[in-house]
Amino acid sequence: MAARGKNLILITGGTGLLGPYLAAAAARRGAVMLAGRRRGQKRADLSDAAAARRLIAEAAPDIVVHAAAWADVDGCEREPERADAINRQATANVAAAMPAGCRLVVVSTDQVYPDRPGPHREGTEAPVNAYGRSKLAGEAAALAAPGALVLRTNFFGPSRTRGRRSLSDFVLDSLRAAEPVTLFGDVLFSPLHMATLAEIVFELVEAEIAGTFNLGSRDGMSKSEFGLAVAAVAGVAADTATIGESTMRAGRAPRAKDLRMDVGKLERALGRPMPTLAEEVEKL
Ligand SMILES: NC(=O)c1ccc[n+]([C@@H]2O[C@H](COP(=O)([O-])OP(=O)(O)OC[C@H]3O[C@@H](n4cnc5c(N)ncnc54)[C@H](OP(=O)(O)O)[C@@H]3O)[C@@H](O)[C@H]2O)c1
Repeated sequence: MAARGKNLILITGGTGLLGPYLAAAAARRGAVMLAGRRRGQKRADLSDAAAARRLIAEAAPDIVVHAAAWADVDGCEREPERADAINRQATANVAAAMPAGCRLVVVSTDQVYPDRPGPHREGTEAPVNAYGRSKLAGEAAALAAPGALVLRTNFFGPSRTRGRRSLSDFVLDSLRAAEPVTLFGDVLFSPLHMATLAEIVFELVEAEIAGTFNLGSRDGMSKSEFGLAVAAVAGVAADTATIGESTMRAGRAPRAKDLRMDVGKLERALGRPMPTLAEEVEKL
């Protein structure tokens, strides 16, 4: 990490779901500044290049973790230009504004992978929706910054952000309220608990690792297995859950059914195996 004084870590998307977890892990390593578009210590619309330059010049960070995005998959499909502005252009603006010696970490998504059987390896991307395409274009823009680290991920865990719920929150809230909830048996993924994810982000930065990595659990589950495991760990009855198929919901953006990621490259970089998804759920 940088030699001058205490590390200053700027987290864009600091007011989102993942932001508080990144902030907690960052605070163990340096001083933290959280940026949002409408809220946060610093506010900037990063799709505006001048605003991105101003934010980064004022903050003078040693590390930027760029987690700002428009992560609404169906919204991105309806408004691809807005998806491009936030997920590609804003990332390009941040990358172009990096001060010399500042490390850029970009949080990306498993949605860059195709609708083919996983686990998917880095180098096999072919997104099936506008969200995935805009994030993949953002990754390419980020890699223009020297030493950039791109982390494709998916995550869950208790939200610390008002108005935002993770998938595990949604499952538990629904079951606790005895509301019907359909858990997809035909969709596979390999997310991490947000606390695990955030720690590994900074471990990789400290090890000065650059490039593109899948950052997920080492195996994965279907969303229905995941939902039932979450309920079991929380001691919540799953009586109102039904197992269904993702194709039951009309009007959604296309999605790949198997988003499990191969984490071999990451495990080699870290020198240890990643946790299984069952181990991650146990952390709830
Ligand atoms: N959520 C998921 O399930 C998921 C899964 C895989 C990967 N990811 C990726 O993980 C990262 C974090 O996602 P999240 O769920 O924490 O996001 P989120 O809760 O939707 O929050 C989005 C954040 O981005 C900020 N933002 C949006 N547009 C902006 C703009 N034009 N300029 C500056 N900031 C802007 C928002 O600021 P305001 O609050 O002020 O508007 C907010 O802080 C994203 O890169 C996402 O693509 C998410």
